Amino acid sequence: MQHYQNYQAPADALANKVILVTGAGDGIGRVAAITYAQHGATVILLGRTTKKLEAVYDEIVAAGYPEPAIVPLDMKGATETNYQDMGATIIDQFGRLDGLLHNASILGILSPFAHIDLPTWNDIMQVNVTAQFLMTKALLPALMKAPAASVIFTSSGVGRKGRAHWGPYAVSKFATEGMAQVLADEYENSSLRVNVINPGATRTGMRSRAYPAEDASLLKTPADLMPTYLYFMSDESKNTTGESVDAQTR
Ligand SMILES: NC(=O)c1ccc[n+]([C@@H]2O[C@H](COP(=O)([O-])OP(=O)(O)OC[C@H]3O[C@@H](n4cnc5c(N)ncnc54)[C@H](OP(=O)(O)O)[C@@H]3O)[C@@H](O)[C@H]2O)c1
Repeated sequence: MQHYQNYQAPADALANKVILVTGAGDGIGRVAAITYAQHGATVILLGRTTKKLEAVYDEIVAAGYPEPAIVPLDMKGATETNYQDMGATIIDQFGRLDGLLHNASILGILSPFAHIDLPTWNDIMQVNVTAQFLMTKALLPALMKAPAASVIFTSSGVGRKGRAHWGPYAVSKFATEGMAQVLADEYENSSLRVNVINPGATRTGMRSRAYPAEDASLLKTPADLMPTYLYFMSDESKNTTGESVDAQTR
């Protein structure tokens, strides 16, 4: 087991940090957002389904954690201007951004390569790659205002070794790994660090869409992954950049 996989974060590990989580309404992003708030962060909840974001907001407020902000945004249709406006608003409201968890992505349809249609390919690339590029670019000014900012990208086993029928999703995760490496190299001697987490098989809606027949009770839950998600967002990982890690022991 890697040290970050059983990292025990102090209660105030993320105190006074402003952290944006994409796909914060469901699955791993939902649990990460609540866990970051529980450790003192003001969380910006970004996602496409406002109702789900409001439920996470209510849960965080009811628990007495710092009041979050909600950003309803469909990363499929969002433009560069939308992201730039978001970056400016974050600087206006918070003065900086300490953390960015790129978590939202879509699976698309698992199918043989020969059957992949262009609209499906384009949607997956838009949400999983282009949106992350535009968002990261637009948020760099806010991230550079933080004393030690952390950007975390989310990969997958199929983002490191391609697998039959995982088509555009797998390709998008290779692109995610590449984007993180380029950024980490560019910002190597700066206050910004960039790392990648592969959650591994986790009990969420996306997993059940990919493996509808498996016994989900045997899978790790998003909560099981949180030591790694906390480690890479907290100052504990301040000197770590350019890593691509697994949140679960294999
Ligand atoms: N679960 C696994 O076994 C597993 C394994 C390897 C990697 N991953 C990766 O881990 C991350 C989280 O996966 P998950 O299993 O938690 O997935 P999930 O349960 O499907 O949740 C994904 C979240 O992303 C949001 N999202 C999707 N499309 C969006 C869009 N166009 N604009 C804004 N938000 C959007 C979803 O919003 P809605 O709630 O509105 O749909 C949802 O909140 C993903 O990057 C995934 O590739 C997961």
